[in-house]
Amino acid sequence: MNSYIENLNWRYATKKFDTNKKVSHQDLELLKDVIQLSASSYGLQPYKVLLIEDKETRKKLQVAAWGQSQITESSHLFVFANNTNFNDSHIDTYIQNVSKTRNLNIEDLKGYADFMKSKISPLTSQAKENWTAKQSYIALGNLLSAAAFLKIDACPMEGFEADAINKILDLEKAGFKTTFLVTIGYRSKDDQTQHYPKVRTPKTELFTTI
Ligand SMILES: Cc1cc2nc3c(=O)[nH]c(=O)nc-3n(C[C@H](O)[C@H](O)[C@H](O)COP(=O)(O)O)c2cc1C
Repeated sequence: MNSYIENLNWRYATKKFDTNKKVSHQDLELLKDVIQLSASSYGLQPYKVLLIEDKETRKKLQVAAWGQSQITESSHLFVFANNTNFNDSHIDTYIQNVSKTRNLNIEDLKGYADFMKSKISPLTSQAKENWTAKQSYIALGNLLSAAAFLKIDACPMEGFEADAINKILDLEKAGFKTTFLVTIGYRSKDDQTQHYPKVRTPKTELFTTI
C-alpha cells in the first residue's frame, strides 16, 4: 500500500510532456483495460473513449482546449465522451451482453432490465447527461492511478470549449458530448510543476467521522 501512495505522490497533472517519448503499445493496451474494467452504475458504461492519434485533429483540438500544449506534445490523447441520449435501447444492448457473457436467458433478465429502465427513463435529459458523465469520471480516477503505477504521466483536462470539441469530433450526431480529455506520456524535465508540493485539503477537514 505504501507504494500505492508513493505512486499517487509521484503523479501530478503534467503540463509539459517530453515529445520524444511515446507510451508503448503494450502499456496503452493496459490503460485501455483499466478503462474497460472500471465500475459503472448498473454496469452500463454510458460513455465512449476516443483515442486521437491524428496530428491535424490534435492541433484543432488544442485550439479548442485553450491552447494547452499537452494536447499536441503528449504521447497519446484520450477524449472521454458521455452519452447524451441514454435510453431503453442501451439497456437492452447491455442485457444482451449480460445474457451472452453469463449464458443466461434474456427472459430471466427482464426484471432487472425493467428495473433499470424504471429508474433511468423518468430522469430529465439534463439529469441523464449528468449521470452518464459521472460514470466516466470513475474511469478517469482509475486511469490516473494506473498510469502512475506504470510510471506514465498524465493530465486530466476539463479546460476546453466543449461545443468546439464536439464539433471537431462530430460527437453530437452520434449522441455524445465531450466530458474530459486525458493526455498521457512522459514528463519533460523542464516541467517545473513536477517539483511543486501537493496542495490538498487537510484530512481533518476532508473527513468527518460520525
Ligand atoms: C477533471 C479535471 C480537470 C482538469 N483540467 C485541467 C486542465 O484543463 N489543464 C490542466 O493543466 N490541469 C487540469 N487538471 C489538473 C488539476 O488542476 C490537478 O489535478 C489538481 O490541481 C491537483 O494537482 P495534481 O493532480 O498535480 O496532484 C484537471 C484535473 C481534473 C481532475
